Amino acid sequence: MTNTQTALGSLTKVVNLLSFVPLNLPENLEFILAEVDRLFQPEQLAVSLVRSQTRAVFSYRSHKIVHSGAEAGLCHCGNCSHDCPVLKDALPVLKLTQDETEGCALTKAERSPAHACLPIVGGKEVLGILSLTMPESGNIKIDDLEILLVLTNLVGITVQRDQLLQSVEEEKRALLEANLHLGELAGNLLRAEKLATAGRMAADIAHEINNPLGIISARAECILLEQGEHLPEEIREDLRVIIKQARRVGQISRTVLNMARTPAAAEKEKFDVHAAIAEVLSLVKTTLSKRGIALHYEGPAAGPLWTAGNTNHLQQVFLNLVWNALDAMLGEGELLIRLGRNAGKIILQVQDSGPGIPPASRALIFEPFFTTKDAGRGTGLGLAISRKLTEEMGGSLTLENSSRGACFQIELAEIGQGG
Ligand SMILES: Nc1ncnc2c1ncn2[C@@H]1O[C@H](COP(=O)(O)OP(=O)(O)OP(=O)(O)O)[C@@H](O)[C@H]1O
Ligand SMILES: [Mg+2]
Repeated sequence: MTNTQTALGSLTKVVNLLSFVPLNLPENLEFILAEVDRLFQPEQLAVSLVRSQTRAVFSYRSHKIVHSGAEAGLCHCGNCSHDCPVLKDALPVLKLTQDETEGCALTKAERSPAHACLPIVGGKEVLGILSLTMPESGNIKIDDLEILLVLTNLVGITVQRDQLLQSVEEEKRALLEANLHLGELAGNLLRAEKLATAGRMAADIAHEINNPLGIISARAECILLEQGEHLPEEIREDLRVIIKQARRVGQISRTVLNMARTPAAAEKEKFDVHAAIAEVLSLVKTTLSKRGIALHYEGPAAGPLWTAGNTNHLQQVFLNLVWNALDAMLGEGELLIRLGRNAGKIILQVQDSGPGIPPASRALIFEPFFTTKDAGRGTGLGLAISRKLTEEMGGSLTLENSSRGACFQIELAEIGQGG
């Protein structure tokens, strides 16, 4: 080559192109390699870029760049069979004429054509290698090396710009993800805020209910105590029901108040799950048969199943599940209660023959205030409170997959006689 005019022309062209065209690594490399090709007319010309453990090879053939993607291997140009010194030391390896070898791993006996391997450097890092192999007849002139080095540096600048662009893109992606996450958090915060407000309102209402409720049960107790013996048995029974139900409402309102308060460590006692469930079943039996619901019980006929927690809480949870099942089974139906043990756990299942829970609602039913019932018929708190109470006992409440209706499962840790 050695024509200063031609070399300068090539450099100006490449610099102008790189300054004005948008950054696209393969296209930009093609511009530069096209000029190297025009100036040196090599037999082989390639750029190998080092990316972590792999190399991306861009070979220039027939006026086009061929990107062979990531390739593992030691030598970029295929001439050396061991670690390439260009990558290791960032120094060029040159064999300027076919007989002359300088620093290259090739032996003189290997009469391969002249070639140059130049490091593509970005700061202190070797980003890759530009390799050029001349045809049998060609040599690389010392004077031309300088222009080859400048072109290699331009490759380095292009690669660095590409790396910068990629890291900006990655940062952008990370920022977008972080933004999305922030949006979710803000949504959750808003929901938590709404729930806290609703919880405070519920607590206020529960508090207000306690006074009239106290009066109702106190009056009923007074009547029973003072006039009881003069009243017919049915009225006495009615009064007992009033007192019992007023106590239940009191218990529910205390639970709501407890939910609104910062949770204190719930008092735990050892109790028999079997007995607790049998008590509730004996209470609801009549209601079930009046509504045309057949009750099936699968489990031990007697015998304790000990757990630690709060009997009232478990009974409340169980009752919530039974009421939900009743609401779901309009008209006739079957309610199946299973009680048993598995791997140190007490398992209690409540399954109904209703329509089940549609997939879209499955993730929502345990959320407070989620209800599909008409206003006044459901608050949407039943399952949320039930789950909280079960978890306070160290257990869990889940919706199981079932072939029929809905099946809820309570799991509690079983403790031994001594526990
Ligand atoms: N056994 C069931 N079959 C079908 N759907 C059910 C069943 N149990 C619960 N659900 C659905 O889950 C929703 C939430 O139940 P949850 O007990 O939390 O509230 P609720 O029954 O609507 O009102 P609340 O219990 O506060 O009076 C119900 O409205 C209903 O859509
Ligand atoms: Mg309910």
